[in-house]
Amino acid sequence: MSSDTGSLLSSVPFFRGLDSKTTKALLAQGKEMAFKEGDTIVSEGASGVGFFLVLDGSAEVRKSGKAVATLSKGQFFGEMSLIDDMPRSADVVAVRPTRCWAITSWSFASLLKVHPELAVGMLKELVKRLRAAQSSPNS
Ligand code: CMP
Repeated sequence: MSSDTGSLLSSVPFFRGLDSKTTKALLAQGKEMAFKEGDTIVSEGASGVGFFLVLDGSAEVRKSGKAVATLSKGQFFGEMSLIDDMPRSADVVAVRPTRCWAITSWSFASLLKVHPELAVGMLKELVKRLRAAQSSPNS
């Protein structure tokens, strides 16, 4: 874990409500991962056990090969399989050198139980994504 990951994480809206003790405990449960441009971070149809937060760089969400969203610093992905235990709904591909902070779904799920406010933050982002998908020309 690099020294700046803690401050990066606490600058992310999603984690802002957590006190520093919880943020530290959370940090210790996850790990930083680096991806090269073109790396597939998660694969559509695969089973998924990780939740990812983009620390820097950029990742494209692709459904059946078609780009549906681009995620950058402070945004998360991988929550869908975590919530319903279904296979990954899309590929997520690094389109620049990209660093993520990743945590297993079981660690994240137990964190959500203790800090339900995180689930509310996640719901807000999910609704935002749903609205964007509904207003896209191909929906
Ligand atoms: P999951 O299905 O676990 O793995 C692929 C991830 O891509 C998914 O979780 C979401 O985090 C993300 N994703 C899928 N569809 C969209 C979308 N329309 N907009 C933004 N992110 C998405």
